Amino acid sequence: MTDTALINGSFVAAEQASISIFDRGFLFADSVYEVVPVYAGRPFRLEAHLSRLADSLAAVGIDNPHQHGDWVRLLNDLINVNGGGDQSVYLQVTRGAPARREHRLPQDVDPNIVAFCQARRPPPPATLADGVAAVTRRDTRWARCHIKSTSLLANVLAAAEAHAEEATEALFIDEADGVVEGSSSNIFAVVDGRVLTPALRPAILPGITRGVVLDVLAANDIAHHMVDHLPLTALRRADEIWICSSSREIMPVTQLDGVTVGNGRPGDVWAKVYGALQEVDHE
Ligand code: PDD
Repeated sequence: MTDTALINGSFVAAEQASISIFDRGFLFADSVYEVVPVYAGRPFRLEAHLSRLADSLAAVGIDNPHQHGDWVRLLNDLINVNGGGDQSVYLQVTRGAPARREHRLPQDVDPNIVAFCQARRPPPPATLADGVAAVTRRDTRWARCHIKSTSLLANVLAAAEAHAEEATEALFIDEADGVVEGSSSNIFAVVDGRVLTPALRPAILPGITRGVVLDVLAANDIAHHMVDHLPLTALRRADEIWICSSSREIMPVTQLDGVTVGNGRPGDVWAKVYGALQEVDHE
């Protein structure tokens, strides 16, 4: 099902696909990426993902290796050779592999483009029925997390700490004790009857799912606010907390740092938004 990868325009068996040890994505995390969910063979919000990819590339000064139409064709071909259906496309563009490892940016090197498919793991029914646990962690990441770079060690370690505590996600807290986002998700909370989410800033990835959730809230006349500071103290007394991402969709959080959130069940507002999300055209 998911055994063909795309490397620099060629389709190859995934287990034989390889990249140079001099690739700067490998050596310096000098690369950016996207994860695009695929429903019934159709990549969800591909335009938005390609637009964010273009922004990430521009932010780090890597030339976009393809025109928009070429990306669309290549990624759809990749999905089709891997059998269509429900899956998830991982796509990475690195600055390339110069002859020497050195920090200064290389001249005249072509980016490397790697993409492959993985089985999509939708949230299991038990997760939707009971919600998940999250823990809070100090945000130790760099200051430009709006760029979707592969420099994810702080995210990976925070997620590992969450998993060690049998939680699904780590939520990053900034120096002003405000909630930022998850290690691989954005966050919403219902506090005093108001749906709140941190406003976009360089510490936050502009999640595509976050955008879809905001569209759903607006379309259903559910009042919501993007706030410059979402205090952890507010999160601790929230009636509902949700995390969202391309792989998690929108998940209710019913435990925070070992303490029950709201009444301990996925909330009514979450249920409404989750239901509406299922009705969104998944192309
Ligand atoms: N990550 N914030 C961070 C730090 C993320 O890594 C992600 C997603 C999101 C949500 O973005 P989106 O809705 O566009 O998926 C927010 C992907 C899924 C990953 O790294 O696997």
